[in-house]
Amino acid sequence: MARKKIALIGAGNIGGTLAHLAAQKELGDIVLFDIAEGIPQGKALDLSQCGPVQGFDAAVTGTNDYKDIEGADVIIVTAGVPRKPGMSRDDLLGINLKVMKAVGEGIKQYAPDAFVICITNPLDAMVWALREFSGLPHNKVVGMAGVLDSARFSTFLAWEFGVSVRDVTSFVLGGHGDTMVPVVEYSTVKGIPVPDLIKMGKSTQERIDAIVKRTANGGGEVVGLLKTGSAFYAPAASAIAMAESYLGDQKRVLPCAAYLEGQYGVDGLYVGVPVKIGKDGVEEVIEIELNDQAKAGLQVSIDAVKDLLTACKGIDNTLA
Ligand code: APR
Repeated sequence: MARKKIALIGAGNIGGTLAHLAAQKELGDIVLFDIAEGIPQGKALDLSQCGPVQGFDAAVTGTNDYKDIEGADVIIVTAGVPRKPGMSRDDLLGINLKVMKAVGEGIKQYAPDAFVICITNPLDAMVWALREFSGLPHNKVVGMAGVLDSARFSTFLAWEFGVSVRDVTSFVLGGHGDTMVPVVEYSTVKGIPVPDLIKMGKSTQERIDAIVKRTANGGGEVVGLLKTGSAFYAPAASAIAMAESYLGDQKRVLPCAAYLEGQYGVDGLYVGVPVKIGKDGVEEVIEIELNDQAKAGLQVSIDAVKDLLTACKGIDNTLA
């Protein structure tokens, strides 16, 4: 059987980490694409030279030509710019929207059968725009947010309860940003819901509320420490988990920004919800019962995503 092909659009911090993880796991041969000349080629050469040391056998190449992504099975998109001081949210939206247009057209031309995972921010708008520009089926284009947000939530819960992260499951819904909704009721330690753990005296509501807040600000906390960039190890690991579920038809249930057509009362938007990922991409959107507080939180999140899409349509009238 031919090896799978993984194309990484954007060879920056996340792109480089994605390439390393994908090579270590031998998910397939890897093509790193970037508009910056030399960066994808240099990273590819460096990563290739990890192979003999680490014992992996994946071909890693770098390119500035979309033609080289031809026939990719999985594409992970991190191309774009981060928000810089003095830049408004709309400035960022305008710049990254243009990037999504170029990337979407490249995918449409060379890899229309790929499973595409978008990471570029603002995520919920960029994944929607990327889908529009690429014309791929909605079930083959998803956004990476919930796996990362719930990984952050799980990390903090594991620290709070003094247990292995392996035994913590947590749930985060909604948009990727301040309006995300960490759902405490569906977050457990080995199946024991967090509210029960509070009743058992293992934590307090105040401490869990603080963890929920810290989770929602998870990206900002890392930026505050790094000062010159944003998180890249956990975002890359999260997207790789999604890619593996697709490539291996694992049918994992993962929170992702997925296209909703009526589920959760939403139509025509990408919102973070639990989905099943297998060989057909997003095979199912899983609708869970939410309490009133989570419903209200999700609605705020949905409204924020709608505002972003309105702004996108204002910037690029081919999207309207
Ligand atoms: N086509 C391809 N690559 C591009 C384009 C484009 N049109 N525009 C920019 N790039 C490349 C840059 O050259 C850079 O190498 O995208 C890369 C982005 O890398 P970093 O700046 O290191 O950003 P990173 O930390 O990897 O994050 C990427 O993910 O989490 C989000 O907010 C984050 O949107 C950002 C993205």
